Amino acid sequence: MNSSSATLLCSLLLAASTALFLRRRARKLPPLPPGPKKLPLVGNLFSLPSHSEWETYAKWSKECNSDIIHLDAAGQSIVVLCSLEAAEDLLDKRSGIYSDRARLNMFNDLVIKDDFMFAFEKYGDTWRTHRRLFYREFSPTAVDRYHDQELKEALKLLELLLDTPHEFVDHFHHVMGSLLMSIIYGIDVQRSNDPYLHTAEMAARAMSEAAVPGRYLVDLISPLKYIPDWFPGAGFKRQAAEGNRLVKEMRDVPFMHTRQAAMQGTARPCFVTEYMREGKIESVEEEIAIKQVARTAYAAGTDTITATLIAFLRTMVEHPEVQKKAQRELDSVVAAGQLPSLADEKALPYVTAVIKETMRRWPVGPIGIPHFVATDDIYRSYRIPGGSIVIANLWAMLHDESDYPDPQLFNPERFLHGGQLNPSIRDPLSIVFGFRRRVCPGRHMAWDTVWITMASILATFDISKALDADGRPIEPEQGYTSQLVCVPVPFECSIKPRSKDVEELIRSMSMS
Ligand code: HEM
Repeated sequence: MNSSSATLLCSLLLAASTALFLRRRARKLPPLPPGPKKLPLVGNLFSLPSHSEWETYAKWSKECNSDIIHLDAAGQSIVVLCSLEAAEDLLDKRSGIYSDRARLNMFNDLVIKDDFMFAFEKYGDTWRTHRRLFYREFSPTAVDRYHDQELKEALKLLELLLDTPHEFVDHFHHVMGSLLMSIIYGIDVQRSNDPYLHTAEMAARAMSEAAVPGRYLVDLISPLKYIPDWFPGAGFKRQAAEGNRLVKEMRDVPFMHTRQAAMQGTARPCFVTEYMREGKIESVEEEIAIKQVARTAYAAGTDTITATLIAFLRTMVEHPEVQKKAQRELDSVVAAGQLPSLADEKALPYVTAVIKETMRRWPVGPIGIPHFVATDDIYRSYRIPGGSIVIANLWAMLHDESDYPDPQLFNPERFLHGGQLNPSIRDPLSIVFGFRRRVCPGRHMAWDTVWITMASILATFDISKALDADGRPIEPEQGYTSQLVCVPVPFECSIKPRSKDVEELIRSMSMS
């Protein structure tokens, strides 16, 4: 045998034994969680739902008889957790490896770029610092100081609903934007065409679109990031550039306003001034971090609360009997000539149950913000490949029959026993805000705001179906938009003050 034949034989033997080793190893690897049938190369890419994905995931989970399913989007591994048990086992108990976020080419690399939005960033030191800065001002005790602003904005909303009830969606957006601007920057916005709100809304929209995994081809094909903006089909690059301009403007402009006011001694106490001494933040690094955290708080807070309020209004249109019962409870607790306050919460268990049931039945973040696991893991004898996006199907957990019998039914009574909140029923708030290290850090302020706004509306307005030209009731449109924050599709309704006295009360309180 000459030397080249020997080399060839050795190479063949090496290749054969490597293949054998890999096959044996592959055979030994535990299986992936079950899931819908995958095609070669593309996997489930073409069967991934583009709308109401939480319902499709729940359906697949039932079909596979497994609360954990695996999908493959052209090589991107996706694990969907459809039960609270699986979510707690992985996202809570193994939070050390499951608290990461996937990097999205469109969102992280093109829109946010060298900037930082901690809700969508890798689990690590910078994320930890930002979360700590945020939490200090949004902890359960810190949020008490926002109650006056929440009441003020709720009252402003009631006045707007008196004047132009059919513009309720705009009003919700306006007052929630106004509340966050006030809490974070101490800025009082104008009633219409406010420049701060305008920029913030445009930037939040750009971020919300870019943050949906897989919405842009560039999320699946990374080299597309590098094509020039003028290239045919590179519309996403121009869109990202505009998004980047807006998120920078949103970060800097309101912050500069507050800093200037603080230097002149005219700033109102707010999130940003809490970190200032005589108009200055200790170091340049901390100033950058505060600007970024302030922007994250605004972006994460406004749309979520607004969408929850819209979902509540639609639910009240559909369930007049629930509305009447909640109003009777409010009338028995809140003195005539007054509006509810957060101090009334304990005395209003039915109102609280209505709000919890709204958030259970119509969670505005049905799949939360996807987590990510960088390292391989084994769970219940299944292999979770490192590099998987991990989706907690919150909607499925909130519609789990073992916790919430007849889950499609809107039934606030499920939370009550003997007229009080029943602690043995799982609180949907332990699900809607996500899990452990990534759990929503704005949840305490969110709950207070949602509660006082909904209680104020129930106390003062009758909400019912709108009537068409022939006086027939119009059924409200059903469904949600499918984004990271899902908003009920537009619908019409009638919003009328419950009495002349209530109308006068709102007017007089608004003037004082
Ligand atoms: C009803 C209103 C809200 C709902 C349903 C909601 C829900 C959520 C969910 C599901 C997550 C992801 C949790 C996870 O990854 O496991 C989240 C994260 C977050 N939320 Fe909320 N949220 C609401 C209001 C707010 C408000 C008012 C703020 C700010 C003032 C806020 C700030 C954040 C931030 C900063 C994160 C990212 C946390 C991180 O990645 O470390 N949220 N929220």
